[in-house]
Amino acid sequence: MQLLLMGPPGAGKGTQAAELVKKFSIPQISTGDMFRAAVKEGTELGKKAEACMKTGALVPDEVTIGIVRERLAKDDCKGGFILDGFPRTVAQAEALTKILDELGMKLTRVLNIHVPAEELIERAVGRRICKKCGATYHVKFNPPKSAEACDNCGGELFQRADDNEATMKNRLGVYEDSTRPLIDYYKKAGVYTEIDGRQPIAKVTEELVRVLSAAQD
Ligand code: AP5
Ligand code: MG
Ligand code: ZN
Repeated sequence: MQLLLMGPPGAGKGTQAAELVKKFSIPQISTGDMFRAAVKEGTELGKKAEACMKTGALVPDEVTIGIVRERLAKDDCKGGFILDGFPRTVAQAEALTKILDELGMKLTRVLNIHVPAEELIERAVGRRICKKCGATYHVKFNPPKSAEACDNCGGELFQRADDNEATMKNRLGVYEDSTRPLIDYYKKAGVYTEIDGRQPIAKVTEELVRVLSAAQD
């Protein structure tokens, strides 16, 4: 299954991708996670990405498309994958179609997690992530058992540098201008499904799995 999880910042793409990874045993490809790892390692890519991410702007298309092209060519993607946060511009979507074409693949389904803008800031500001295993929590909607440590591995929890109200407002503006047009792009391609992301996390997962089971029939 070649899946694309779309949705505005904070909609729940990463949270749901983690569930789908467990369920379908295919890798999650999150450009945001790849950029954050590069920033941490201090690589050239990380230096290019860091300035953009700080303000909530997009990393240039040619950089982003390049890392996804390399990632999709890896062996573990042969049985399918879950793209999370890529593509985010029409140019990236067109490049993805071409890359998949070259690999003899196409998207099985594009799932757009819809959440109204006013709820997204609260989701981002309350998000906490485990430093060790990457598990995602929310102080109110999905709290860890202890405020300090990860339920899975005991790792320390941290807040992403771009999870503040000012940067989040920019990220939402960028989503409206650059990413929302992809909805039409994928509707035209006939692979688009919208999911109501305002439901509890487990309900959203249930709905995604239901749509995907139908898509496999
Ligand atoms: P990226 O890391 O992709 O961030 P994003 O798209 O802004 O999305 P988020 O990761 O913030 O949200 P999410 O949908 O994954 O939500 P989550 O599941 O964590 O990108 C970061 C930056 O990298 C970009 O700004 C850009 O600079 C750069 N970048 C990345 N990709 C790029 C690209 N393709 N092109 C150019 N630049 C790129 O959930 C959020 C919170 O809500 C959590 O606390 C969670 O517990 C909670 N939550 C989840 N689901 C629910 C629910 N159903 N109910 C209540 N709470 C919920
Ligand atoms: Mg994410
Ligand atoms: Zn952990």
